Amino acid sequence: MSVPTSIKWEDNQLIILDQQKLPHEMVYLTLNSIEEVFDAIVKLKVRGAPAIGITAAYGLALGASRHETEKLDDFLELLQEDFRYLGSSRPTAVNLFWALERLMSVAHSSTSVNGAKTLLLEEAIKIHVEDEATCKKIGEFGLSLLENRRRVMTICNAGSIATAKYGTALAPFHLGAEKGKEFDVFACETRPVYQGARLTVWELQQSGVPVTLITDSMAAHTIHSKGIEAIIVGADRIAANGDTANKIGTLGLAILAKSYNIPFYVAAPFSTFDLSIDSGAQIPIEERNSSEITHLGEIAIAPENTKVYNPAFDVTPAEYITAIITEKGIIKPDYKENIAKIQ
Ligand code: MRU
Repeated sequence: MSVPTSIKWEDNQLIILDQQKLPHEMVYLTLNSIEEVFDAIVKLKVRGAPAIGITAAYGLALGASRHETEKLDDFLELLQEDFRYLGSSRPTAVNLFWALERLMSVAHSSTSVNGAKTLLLEEAIKIHVEDEATCKKIGEFGLSLLENRRRVMTICNAGSIATAKYGTALAPFHLGAEKGKEFDVFACETRPVYQGARLTVWELQQSGVPVTLITDSMAAHTIHSKGIEAIIVGADRIAANGDTANKIGTLGLAILAKSYNIPFYVAAPFSTFDLSIDSGAQIPIEERNSSEITHLGEIAIAPENTKVYNPAFDVTPAEYITAIITEKGIIKPDYKENIAKIQ
């Protein structure tokens, strides 16, 4: 039993686990160019906020390594174009922009093109390495909150394969398994692309955490029939007031948690906070292709030309969140005040 990972930097190459092929096949892809990185992010071969950030950082470094100019100004201009290109891959997870901005700032601190290329790759590796330690801390804090609870619900995959290792919302379960604490995890399948069924169930099975799959529409019934004791989710972007964007369906779970009087936890690193926005109303919500809803794989399940609304994320108002678990500690309301304090 081991905690799976999805991103490797090996022999100067970026290798990712193709998450679109899970759980049936474990296929590793070598991404050789910024275009391949862009494509992997758009097509959800790599997904999950921190993993998108890490991969994009390597993508920017890969793109930079191919620029042939020796003039620093020209190089920085080309890099800015690469930044915009990668930044247009997916809009909601702020980790993407956070990682790319970190790289841009090291490039700007360099005095030569070659120096900048080296620094860019070093920074991408740093972001990758740091994220594992960050997630481990989130897992430890999360475990302390869930100590007396066994039956916990989650949605989407905020797991090890959505980060460098361990995950955010799933980190307490992985660490719990290592420490002999047993959880009964209930995973929502997470329509439309089934990150819960395909990824979370697979990931938890890999590390020996008991997991039960339910459809999203079973959440309310399951909370009371199975005695769910807490809900824990990840995040794609958290505003300065604590409003949190996460996978579509999260808001519904938060409202249910309040109705059933169980805690609703958000687990996320500081790279997921966007303190430039005051509230969740300013978070851009990605809308994805209608075929994700009208088709199951190749099979059409709706009449042709059906009008579809397919937002990939929703925003949970801070008032529904019991606590936000970060690598720096557990944040409780008043979020506006406490998020600013913990910075
Ligand atoms: O569309 P996805 O699969 O990238 O959405 C992922 C989520 O919503 C996760 O919960 C979030 O990114 C946190 S991952 C640690």
